Amino acid sequence: MVFAKKDKLYLIGFMGSGKSTLGKKIARSLNYEFFDLDQAIESYAGASVSSIFQTQGEIGFRLLESECLSHFNNNKNIVIATGGGTPCFYHNMEMMLQNGCCVYIKMPEGALYQRLYKASPKRPLLVDKNEEELRDYIHELLLQREETYLKSHLIIDGMSVDTNSLVGVLKHKMIPNPALR
Ligand code: S3P
Repeated sequence: MVFAKKDKLYLIGFMGSGKSTLGKKIARSLNYEFFDLDQAIESYAGASVSSIFQTQGEIGFRLLESECLSHFNNNKNIVIATGGGTPCFYHNMEMMLQNGCCVYIKMPEGALYQRLYKASPKRPLLVDKNEEELRDYIHELLLQREETYLKSHLIIDGMSVDTNSLVGVLKHKMIPNPALR
């Protein structure tokens, strides 16, 4: 059996699932460096995620996203908070499964809605949706994406994350790699 590499952690999950907040905590506990993929894209492109969507469309954003993700392939001792769509485009999920340990922060739809309702103007995929449209969109997109998210090495409950036990698992346990089994 082949095990996941734990010198690089990718946090995976839907928009609003708390990847950056948890990522920073885990990085602090493991003494790893923390990166937010959206911020890395913004620095690389010299433009905000919203303006990349406006000028280059989602296709342009996804290309930049995949390129920036691969820039981390040779880094060690890092935690990366990915974007909600990152695992679902190109070979990003396979690349992450090969290069590090993927942790899916699973959240119920209702909780995602509550969080995203307030934060939708910042997110190009959610702008201009009314309450009902937003609920339907989250439902559909989560259905589409979850199959990919569930390929992660570890799946954690985003409603009751115990950072200490998660860090314990990451430090001590061997995690079988589904991509390499
Ligand atoms: C996206 C999620 C966003 C950002 C972009 C697209 C998505 O990141 O990458 O707006 O497709 O789910 P967060 O998950 O950090 O909001």
